[in-house]
Amino acid sequence: MMVKIAFFDTKQYDIPAFEEYGKERGIKFKFLEPRLNSDTAHLAKGYDGVCVFVNDIVNKEVIDILYSYNIKFIVLRCAGFNNVDVKAAFGKIHIYRVPAYSPYAVAEHAMALLQTSNRRIHKAYIRTRDYNFSLNELTGVDLHNKTIGVVGTGKIGKIFINICKGYGMNVVAYDKYPDPNLDVKYVSLDELFSKSDFISLHCPLTDENFHMINKDSIDHMKKGVGIINTSRGGLIDGKALLEGIKERKVGFACLDVYEEEGDIFYEDKSGHILDDDTLRSLISMPNVIITSHQAFLTKEALNNIADTTTQNIVNFYDKKVCENEVCYRCSNIENCKKKRNIKCF
Ligand code: NAI
Repeated sequence: MMVKIAFFDTKQYDIPAFEEYGKERGIKFKFLEPRLNSDTAHLAKGYDGVCVFVNDIVNKEVIDILYSYNIKFIVLRCAGFNNVDVKAAFGKIHIYRVPAYSPYAVAEHAMALLQTSNRRIHKAYIRTRDYNFSLNELTGVDLHNKTIGVVGTGKIGKIFINICKGYGMNVVAYDKYPDPNLDVKYVSLDELFSKSDFISLHCPLTDENFHMINKDSIDHMKKGVGIINTSRGGLIDGKALLEGIKERKVGFACLDVYEEEGDIFYEDKSGHILDDDTLRSLISMPNVIITSHQAFLTKEALNNIADTTTQNIVNFYDKKVCENEVCYRCSNIENCKKKRNIKCF
């Protein structure tokens, strides 16, 4: 039997790997351009399952529409699932994700952003293209002996910590569930904010850490702090960050994600006027670098995403407990049934 999947928000880079792995596993993808939302959900009619990415909207309304079409599962081709109302899906539609596709890709991108900002590579690149070989305003700092605060010490955070150690940095970390086997100094979030020269976010976005970087936390940071976010935009209050930059409190910010990225990132908006004043102001700052949620984008990651996503579909039909299934209980380790080898539902 050929499984039919409606694949929303298709990017040209998705297609080769998904076609290859789909063929191997008896899965046919219909590559659709629109993002999934309540207006486009009808496109999933007649399919067995749905495949979505970070900016598809999978709220209660969308879930109810998909359920009415007898959609049995949604496979996310990403790690974060904050765009899915997992509570609304519970008991109706199974949700799978790709927990890791290349933690190296994201961790390495975070360091690339940090060093680009610190050493003003983005400025130097533009200058030398215009035969401007002046070094004015390009001074950075040695990373050696500087303190970096890493929030979230999961797969990506751990690799990022190792990269930082390679630079001879002092690493402090905060995690809601610290890893006792990790060779790092865990501190409270307040201490991390107040002691770090640079702060890099590697935790998921949840209700409790929404806007964890806000006016108050920025007030408690060191003057000149560099903030790197390759995790989820909602972790940072964009307006507070902009104020922090204007007040010269924040030395630089590198954002691969942005709270309101939904209708903007991944699209060619050149020639358009951006309605988002905060994003426009951030982009205009000389010490802000924004990449369009591309930290994951390596060849290795794209193959791993297609491999795991198609395997998740196979696992759904095998009806086995699947480590990659998520439900509303999974965000709390104590309540997560998979840990006891029981299916989410
Ligand atoms: P992971 O699940 O391996 O690690 C996440 C860590 O965060 C865990 O150790 C967990 O205990 C910790 N955590 C949970 N809640 C927390 C809180 N409130 N405060 C502090 N720590 C908390 O996840 P992984 O693979 O390391 O990914 C981290 C995040 O990176 C993902 O949630 C996703 O949002 C983001 N990501 C971004 C990508 C990009 O292209 N920019 C690509 C892949 C992931």
